[in-house]
Amino acid sequence: MAVTPVGEADVTTTRRDVDEEVTIAVCPDGPLLVRGPALIVDADGLPVPRRRATVALCRCGRTSIAPYCDGAHKRRGAAAAAATS
Ligand code: FES
Repeated sequence: MAVTPVGEADVTTTRRDVDEEVTIAVCPDGPLLVRGPALIVDADGLPVPRRRATVALCRCGRTSIAPYCDGAHKRRGAAAAAATS
């Protein structure tokens, strides 16, 4: 096991975790999709609980479950589309 300092927190991980690939996909007008064993931390460097292998990080700031996307960005897009039609 290796210990990786993240901000003020120490996070323990395994060699297997480090060797797995992480990809981050940008969704147009939506979240960042993070696939793989990336460690998500808050503004203080503390790990944010993660229950899925792929998570969506909010980019719009409208989510109620930060830092994760809850789909609120879709409502903004729908409102913008309605305003221009
Ligand atoms: S990107 Fe989906 S709620 Fe912000």
